[in-house]
Amino acid sequence: MKYLLGIDLGSSSVKVALVDADSGECKATAHWPETEAPIKALQPGWAEQKADDWWCYFKEALRKLAHLTPPSTLHSVAAIGISYQMHGLVCMDKDLQPLRDAIIWCDSRGVPYGEHAPLPGNFTAAKLAWVKEHEPTLFDRIRYILLPGDYLALRLTGTPATTACGLSEMMLWDFDTKCVSSAMMTHFGFPEDIISPLVPTFGEQGRVSREAAAELGIPAGIPVAYRAGDQPNNALSLGVLNPGEVAATAGTSGVVYGVASGEWQAASGLNVFLHVNHYLGVMHCVNGCGIMNAWIKRQVAPTATYDEINTLAAQAPIGCDGLTILPFGNGAERVLLNRNIGSSIHGIDLNRHGQAHLLRAAQEGVAFALIYGMEKMGDVHVIRAGKANMFLSPLFRQTLSNVSGATIELYDTDGSVGAARGAGLGAGIYHTPDEAFASLQCLLRVEPEHSGTTREAYARWKSILDTNIHTFDASNTNTITQ
Ligand code: XUL
Repeated sequence: MKYLLGIDLGSSSVKVALVDADSGECKATAHWPETEAPIKALQPGWAEQKADDWWCYFKEALRKLAHLTPPSTLHSVAAIGISYQMHGLVCMDKDLQPLRDAIIWCDSRGVPYGEHAPLPGNFTAAKLAWVKEHEPTLFDRIRYILLPGDYLALRLTGTPATTACGLSEMMLWDFDTKCVSSAMMTHFGFPEDIISPLVPTFGEQGRVSREAAAELGIPAGIPVAYRAGDQPNNALSLGVLNPGEVAATAGTSGVVYGVASGEWQAASGLNVFLHVNHYLGVMHCVNGCGIMNAWIKRQVAPTATYDEINTLAAQAPIGCDGLTILPFGNGAERVLLNRNIGSSIHGIDLNRHGQAHLLRAAQEGVAFALIYGMEKMGDVHVIRAGKANMFLSPLFRQTLSNVSGATIELYDTDGSVGAARGAGLGAGIYHTPDEAFASLQCLLRVEPEHSGTTREAYARWKSILDTNIHTFDASNTNTITQ
């Protein structure tokens, strides 16, 4: 028996999956922590996590996985794949120790640096530019910069490395010359040698060290054979590999990700990165997605389960009787050209609105925010997603389908299972994606229904958003150049 281990390093937890390499079936999954992992915000708009915590979460998740499987199953792991929260900055010193807490994807401090770069964007490079200016002594001690997934791979293998896809999400990849962008490195004044060696997305990226093996209870010497950011990995997990195909997630952030061929000049507010194959991925990201849903749950129904809040939310009418929520409270939003307008609640009628309205308005607000960016992507006919996170809410997925006009297909997979199958491809156990994803099953198809009320609610949401953007711009005259 041979198993593949998939790791999904998210912002709220680390999830692991064990896949039977022969059948492609997922045998068990586990995650840690049970409730959302903390994100430290020392200043408004900042977001940091400790890289070592990711390792501890991973170990704990793996320990839980070991309890769910027959004894010594983990000894039969043949390859490991890693999916990770994108764009984070982990600064490592010469002894390969983190120099500071990681500055993660939704941290907005890099926005002004990104906006003045040749390729604007609040991504890893912009965060590093902030470190260079504000923490120069620490900057001088950086030996390598790593992405969160690179850090986890380093802890497993002892080898510092990144990928071309990784460099593209850092904003340090030159799409023309297909190597590290010297234009960006020069623009920011970064020394070239802080970029770690490149390894392929699929293929040998290093082998599990004896120390890591002893700590984790997995065999030493097995390869880390696949690594990708959580959004391209989600697409891979769903078999979204060809131009025109579209995947979505609704975790802490919500993303609609389409595969494009050739040179795709994305509309402003969308991002283009390398996909896991030779195509490009065009992405619309809403930072405030599941984190919005979790926040409103904490405020109005803290002891309820997510299933219970989905039932409660469905008791409010479509459009919530005029109650509207903008979910943009998790850092600068790319679709709003890096404005950080915050989350806000509008139109509360103290005599009519209650718990169910607030819960529903949050879910509608997130669905509308996803649609708002999809409108820039052109025609989207089918969206594939894992049956997980906010896609478990019938009202959320139906709202998304009704207003966008897209059919939503929900599959029996997630990022950790996809990463395990990716490892099978990288280790040569599978020869084609079709073979790796043969057991993928569509569990549910949501067809758009004609709903004038939902479209009216979306129109009201958009006009409230416009007003908020104008108010924000009027009081922040020094930003917005993208
Ligand atoms: C994608 C993005 C987020 C993070 C969340 O560009 O920033 O989806 O990857 O983990």
